[in-house]
Amino acid sequence: MASQSALFAANGETPEPLWAAVDDYTGQHLNHHQHLDVVLHDSVAAGLPAIATYPVLAKALSMQSYVTGVTHALEVGTLGAYTPIWLCTLNPAIKITTVEYSPRHAEVAAANCRKVLGEAWEARVEIIVGAGRDVLPRLAKEVADGSRPKFGLTYIDADKVNNWFYFDLAVRMSHPRASIYIDNIVRQGRLVAGNKIVSRNWMNAKEERGDFDESTLGAREAVEKTGKDARVEAVVLQTVSGKSWDGHIWAIVK
Ligand code: DHB
Ligand code: MG
Repeated sequence: MASQSALFAANGETPEPLWAAVDDYTGQHLNHHQHLDVVLHDSVAAGLPAIATYPVLAKALSMQSYVTGVTHALEVGTLGAYTPIWLCTLNPAIKITTVEYSPRHAEVAAANCRKVLGEAWEARVEIIVGAGRDVLPRLAKEVADGSRPKFGLTYIDADKVNNWFYFDLAVRMSHPRASIYIDNIVRQGRLVAGNKIVSRNWMNAKEERGDFDESTLGAREAVEKTGKDARVEAVVLQTVSGKSWDGHIWAIVK
């Protein structure tokens, strides 16, 4: 199997080589879906940034959606539709509504869906082009008036400054026992250390300034407000991978 980690090489991160080696070794034995790598490859070839959901998390989301019988999922931040395609792969019952700000990304996502899911892909994946701040309130109205079913899984992976805005609406659009994820919370440790970590090499983190950038502030707001939110129970799962050192919030709706 070709190294999946190589498909993230253009993202500017320098993951510790053993993180990638472990992903590549375990993926070879456990992830028999390398035909989906074409989505990562084609997305980067089309000029999209190499920041798709890493394969282990995408498969884990798909497995979770299958075992819990999710029929309707929401994604904020489609990029090349790698995550929606993964969700469809293990869960034949699922339909995904995914929101993408960039018309160009949505175009590449549609091509990827057609290539892997076939001509009938639109029966599985609904791509809505627009800003999450505009689209999500509209979806929430549709859920509230019963014209759109509640979601069993939401994956937030878009502009990090709006993490909390998206999460709060996602909770309102979720049925009890739904899962909500927010990607890119740990941010190579910037979540707690701010931009003291200027080196992308975790072994040589250099201390320079301690400011939190706006994306990290969005991650911290999500952690702090989720923890106070009586509607959910949540954890932050730190992850290392061939993509980077990062981590996501996993929340369940009570
Ligand atoms: C970035 C965004 C992501 O969603 C991600 O998973 C990794 C990196 C970024 O904007 O750099
Ligand atoms: Mg992400």
